[in-house]
Amino acid sequence: MQIDLTGRVALVTGSTRGIGRAIAETLAGCGARIAVVGRDQARAAEAAAAISPECRGFGCDMADSASVTAMVEATEKEFGAIDILVNNAGLTRDNLMMRIKDEDWDAVLDANLRGAFVAIRAASRGMMKRRWGRIINIASVVGIVGNKGQANYAASKAGLIGLTKSVAKELASRNILANVVAPGFIETDMTAAMTPEARAGLSGQIPLDRLGTPADIAGVVAFLASDRAAYITGQVLVVDGGMVM
Ligand code: NAI
Repeated sequence: MQIDLTGRVALVTGSTRGIGRAIAETLAGCGARIAVVGRDQARAAEAAAAISPECRGFGCDMADSASVTAMVEATEKEFGAIDILVNNAGLTRDNLMMRIKDEDWDAVLDANLRGAFVAIRAASRGMMKRRWGRIINIASVVGIVGNKGQANYAASKAGLIGLTKSVAKELASRNILANVVAPGFIETDMTAAMTPEARAGLSGQIPLDRLGTPADIAGVVAFLASDRAAYITGQVLVVDGGMVM
């Protein structure tokens, strides 16, 4: 099954590295033009140029609403539209719940949840006018099952699920679909920070017996962005090697 996204414009947040980078590369490989969004404008531009001459880089702090709105507007100005919005940027400030400071709560919720909401609010205006849109939010299995030491992160990811379902209901009549991809453990800089004991603990919990790759997530995002997924909205697709069933 060939996924064809020719003529589509996709904005992917946090796409200078890791899962976001793989999503940007995969969507570009399917023919889409990509707005590569990173915290640092120069790194975003560098990543965009490395992916394809048709991609552009934009700097944006997802925790800053004005910066997110300006980045969406700049992308629309550059490409004329945003058809596919992938909210992938995310960060962790892990600690036991009792030790989470207000600023660690806010840093995670502001970037992971409010940033995604602001991007959706800004990008959906054009999608509504054109009566076509795909919103794909990258959550996590911990948003479904919770995790010790990640109360703030899990809350942000659970929030993304509620946000997505609400948006899916509000925008369905305009042919805008909104879905969540919930990864399990994926090999990126984020999981490289795990202790060897934490890694060893995973063995036996994942039926497919390996960590996932960014490409495992990117393929699912490309499918959800395509016309092949035209009858799927408000869903959470768990991509975790069978860890959470
Ligand atoms: P990563 O740390 O390699 O990449 C995250 C990207 O988000 C980076 O480019 C970072 O600069 C960007 N970002 C973070 N805060 C930002 C901010 N305030 N403004 C702009 N950009 C910001 O992480 P990875 O693993 O590629 O994660 C991508 C997404 O997948 C995240 O939302 C993460 O929560 C989610 N995820 C990752 C899993 C994993 O095992 N790696 C598992 C489940 C979910």
